[in-house]
Amino acid sequence: MQGVILVAAGAGERFGGPKVFAALEGRPLLEWAALPFYDFPDRVVVIREEDRALVTLKDWKIVRGGARRRDSVRAGLDALDPQTEIVLVHDAARPLVSQALVERVARAARAGGAAVPVVPVRDTIKRVEGDAIVQTLQRSELRAAQTPQGFRVELLRKAHAASDRDASDDALLVEDLGAPVAAVAGDPRNIKVTTPADLAVARALMEAPGR
Ligand code: CTP
Ligand code: MG
Repeated sequence: MQGVILVAAGAGERFGGPKVFAALEGRPLLEWAALPFYDFPDRVVVIREEDRALVTLKDWKIVRGGARRRDSVRAGLDALDPQTEIVLVHDAARPLVSQALVERVARAARAGGAAVPVVPVRDTIKRVEGDAIVQTLQRSELRAAQTPQGFRVELLRKAHAASDRDASDDALLVEDLGAPVAAVAGDPRNIKVTTPADLAVARALMEAPGR
């Protein structure tokens, strides 16, 4: 059985408030982000307790998140049906996720245990110390990681149990175990809304045909 954990329990500090309830074309980001997952039998959305009244998703288990993103994912894992074998973890702040991407990630997670959608980086990435550039990374080797990230539930649970480090994505904890994580083609349209300007970008992308 397939499950999804939709994480929506962030404070949205860089946005200036709980962004997952901000409207895009008349619907909250959370609703857009949930759309390609309605055919998953096991659906969990993780929110802040104070936002409970704002959740409009139908027939999702609603659980309370934690201080760090990984704590929210952990709360979601604890709410999954014991029959669920594959889970996709998705940021509610990514409203442009497509059905095709969801299927690619789920297929790769079933095949190899863990899968992350990635896109090439556009900028040259440099390492800095203070205000000095100390290294320029080889752009052709770099990718930006998106969500949904897919895992065998057992593997993600083990990764969570093995480490309490903070993690900006789920795959990092699985990588720490030394387990293989497959990179699948991400989608350049699948941006994360981080700042108010990103909401304008998301609106434009929603109206733009194809890629
Ligand atoms: N998230 C969560 N629980 C947390 C932190 C983040 O469920 N404790 C979720 C957010 O709601 C978001 C996703 O993880 O859907 C990606 O996190 P991010 O973009 O960093 O969102 P926020 O943490 O809300 O924003 P900020 O870091 O600016 O406060
Ligand atoms: Mg955050």
